Amino acid sequence: MRMSGDDRWARLEDDEAVRAAAERLDQFSSFPSEKLARERYLASLDPGPGDRVLEVGAGTGDISLDIARRVAPDGAVTALDPSAGLLRHAREHARRDGLEDRIETVVGDARALPWTEARFDRAFDHWVLLHVDSPAAVIEELKRVVRPGGRIVCVEVDWETLVVHPGDPRVTRRVVRANVERQLDGRMGRQLASLLRGCGFSDVEVVPIVDVESEAASPGWLEFLETRIPVAEEAGVSRRALEKWWGGIRAAAARGDYFFSLTQFAVSASVPAHS
Ligand SMILES: C[S@@+](CC[C@H](N)C(=O)[O-])C[C@H]1O[C@@H](n2cnc3c(N)ncnc32)[C@H](O)[C@@H]1O
Repeated sequence: MRMSGDDRWARLEDDEAVRAAAERLDQFSSFPSEKLARERYLASLDPGPGDRVLEVGAGTGDISLDIARRVAPDGAVTALDPSAGLLRHAREHARRDGLEDRIETVVGDARALPWTEARFDRAFDHWVLLHVDSPAAVIEELKRVVRPGGRIVCVEVDWETLVVHPGDPRVTRRVVRANVERQLDGRMGRQLASLLRGCGFSDVEVVPIVDVESEAASPGWLEFLETRIPVAEEAGVSRRALEKWWGGIRAAAARGDYFFSLTQFAVSASVPAHS
């Protein structure tokens, strides 16, 4: 079995790894389709003034900041992450946006949270469980630290839903598979609802969010797709096949005539009153 320690997102200690990870996260947040996605998953979380909200695996804190704006004037956000380096970025961003009083950062592991029961009104994670070897342990911890009747929202991509056109579908399939296998669990999106029900949550609701890109003016996800070429090559796809595949996609994008989509799931659930 693969363990968290095998995942690159679990080993963000040296400065260079942190810098590259922070850059990648900032890039993701800037994609137009991700900005739309954020509106949808934060609508599921529905944080309001006065709420105490926990985000686990908060990274550079970009989403925590958006939540902090919504819980003002008297609510607060706690952003937890094992990477002290990423949380340094989160604090810098909070200072930049004048939100440092609304956000507390905590170095820690979502599988063993350092709080007593019912400390928060809401809890949230975004793109974290696919990098953790025991996602159920994280969900159990979120249930423990959120008050009865409080709500949690988990957002995870299912990497097998990646679709791109043009490109030989046989090569696309192999690139997608290489990327799925690269994650600790690249099929986390489809498992979320079951995980939450299995941990005893009630009112489980699934919101599918489909990121779509088909304009050359905003090729965010295509830039990500290009980073999958060495991943696919490492998994045994020939360089020649990949060059032909990518050349066709790039040419189509330059004409404004490509299509990319990826589905993620925002799954929300309530902590039962007598859990
Ligand atoms: C893909 S990044 C997502 C970051 C942030 N949620 C976002 O969407 O911008 C995955 C994050 O999970 C964190 N992470 C990895 N293992 C974790 C664990 N056991 N507990 C909490 N966070 C963890 C990483 O440090 C990283 O910040």
